[in-house]
Amino acid sequence: MKKELTQSQVWEIAGNALHDEQYRTNYSKALAFVLKDKNLKILDTAGGTGFPTFDLYKLGFTNLSVTDGNETYAKELQEKFKSEGMEISAYHSSWQELGNKISEKFDVIVNADNSFVYMDGWMGGETPEKLENIIPRIQMCLKSFFEATKDNGLVVIGLGKHYVPSYKGSDRTFDSERNGEQYHTIWKSTFDWGKRINTWTTRVESDLSEGEVVRKSYLITKEELVEQMKVAGFKNVYILIPDDTRDDLIIGIK
Ligand SMILES: C[S@@+](CC[C@H](N)C(=O)[O-])C[C@H]1O[C@@H](n2cnc3c(N)ncnc32)[C@H](O)[C@@H]1O
Repeated sequence: MKKELTQSQVWEIAGNALHDEQYRTNYSKALAFVLKDKNLKILDTAGGTGFPTFDLYKLGFTNLSVTDGNETYAKELQEKFKSEGMEISAYHSSWQELGNKISEKFDVIVNADNSFVYMDGWMGGETPEKLENIIPRIQMCLKSFFEATKDNGLVVIGLGKHYVPSYKGSDRTFDSERNGEQYHTIWKSTFDWGKRINTWTTRVESDLSEGEVVRKSYLITKEELVEQMKVAGFKNVYILIPDDTRDDLIIGIK
């Protein structure tokens, strides 16, 4: 019988397969283009396996902190930073509770890698259907980011370019290696724009182990996100559409 992979291990394997060299390079270059000043105090709010924090650090942005709502990811990241000799703190906090966990304010809040839309569904929480029910959930997170940002600071949110009503979903496969083991990853996503819910199944298999995770994300467009950022209080909101990244960047100025 094959060993059952944990939810964290499934994302570590699938995430590493997705985050190939080109993906990381193009994405972190786009972020660096927006951020410019290497001394900015930055909070990466979707720490996960460490993208884009490691990449920004390599580009010279060293005033970095990280949070993640998943306690295992936050702990593992803290260990990784320590073992690499990087002075970066990794906190465990949901976006909704950020203000209760971290009292500091940041020049920039980064929420990259199409994470924002998983605000409830990544960790298996309730995901209400229909835009009118999703908007209060979005506002809760945006206001929390707004509060954690200094005046004139930025909130940068990566939203998948495929978050458009014409997109109905996909099947993708990736092959990757972890600790000498070869893995095959199968992603299936189904976009239901009527309900405004994407159901995303990730299945990872090797000769020795296997695991599957089903997650839900909210379906919003970049234009809707811009509008919601304005409602949350950002005085200016821009969209950066890099040619070579999976996400567009929605940038709110406080
Ligand atoms: C698409 S993954 C991207 C993670 C990261 N970029 C990486 O390299 O793994 C989304 C991340 O957001 C985190 N997350 C999702 N909803 C959250 C919430 N409400 N509060 C805090 N973190 C959350 C997840 O735990 C996960 O690490």
